Amino acid sequence: DDGAPDGVGVLDWFFGVAAIGSRRSSFVVAVLGAAGGIGQPLAAFVKANARVRELRLYDVAPVVRGVGVDLSHINTRAKVRAYVGDAELDACLRGCDLVVVPAGVPRKPGMSRDDLFGVNAGIVRTLCEAIARSCPNALVNIISNPVNSTVPIAAEVFKRSGCYDARKLMGVTHLDVMRARTFVAEAKGFDDPTIVDVPVIGGHAGATILPLLSQTTPRCAFTDEEAAALTRRIQNGGTEVVEAKGGAGSATLSMAAAAAEFADACLRGLSGESGIWACAYVESSVASAPFFATKVLLGKHGVERVSGPGAMSPFEKRAMENMLPELQASINKGINFVG
Ligand code: NAI
Repeated sequence: DDGAPDGVGVLDWFFGVAAIGSRRSSFVVAVLGAAGGIGQPLAAFVKANARVRELRLYDVAPVVRGVGVDLSHINTRAKVRAYVGDAELDACLRGCDLVVVPAGVPRKPGMSRDDLFGVNAGIVRTLCEAIARSCPNALVNIISNPVNSTVPIAAEVFKRSGCYDARKLMGVTHLDVMRARTFVAEAKGFDDPTIVDVPVIGGHAGATILPLLSQTTPRCAFTDEEAAALTRRIQNGGTEVVEAKGGAGSATLSMAAAAAEFADACLRGLSGESGIWACAYVESSVASAPFFATKVLLGKHGVERVSGPGAMSPFEKRAMENMLPELQASINKGINFVG
């Protein structure tokens, strides 16, 4: 035991570089869409992760080569390689342990995540076909929206290729958890948001994002009004950023931090650390919808255990009932796209 804290949320993937430098774990990580608003800072965080032996960057935009040169000057051990366009995609993926996918278009003001389906569904399908060919055993973290549909698309592609393992496919909803931690800390006057935890379940769009404030740790009491207002703010966190950026994109820096923290949790699981729990959108039978975000235990093969929602307040139970039809519809839309 190296004394690292269990669970996710202390930013040790970045600040603890020196402390973890001696770990035995050593992984190859690819970022697909690495020249983008999320991809670039995410790649920088992954370059700083001492568990990473090689960082592969892929994009259709040729500037990704320059991003690779830039990152390669950071004096951490990860070797950086950049790949451009279809012809280099398989080479990028061969031998990867973890593939993180932030490729695709982001929202503009007034758009829902589902409005991105027309463009991003095809991008995710193409990238997953390549993953199935070139690194069928890798863990896959899907960031591209609408996550509620793109993860079922990925699952369907992997099934058709005969390499689907539900333990290895995760939709990244960790930004919702980060927002919940931050907003609850603000509301309750905690100076240090890293000590707060709030599970966020369901999916990653509007009402399907359900923070379980009743399970906040350290334990906090919320009035009904407070719970309703905080829930709304967490659900609308992405839209808050989209509007503040006024057409120039959606959350990129916070998303990169969330994706890097989640990716690190996956690598810690792969390297055999125990007790690595994080929320993610995965296939399971814990709810009536076949894909559902909930707390999962990450281990040597990816998701080793999926926890149910646990005890919910009446407000949370109602919100869950109300959101399930929307979540199911988004899942069907993804499956039908491939079918
Ligand atoms: P961006 O437009 O800045 O970057 C996207 C990158 O993907 C670009 O570099 C583009 O060249 C690349 N790309 C496009 N087609 C590609 C393909 N076929 N293969 C490889 N790369 C390709 O967008 P940004 O802000 O980085 O957002 C990316 C995605 O992440 C969006 O779909 C956005 O909605 C989603 N997102 C998800 C969040 C979550 O919590 N899961 C939070 C925030 C954004």
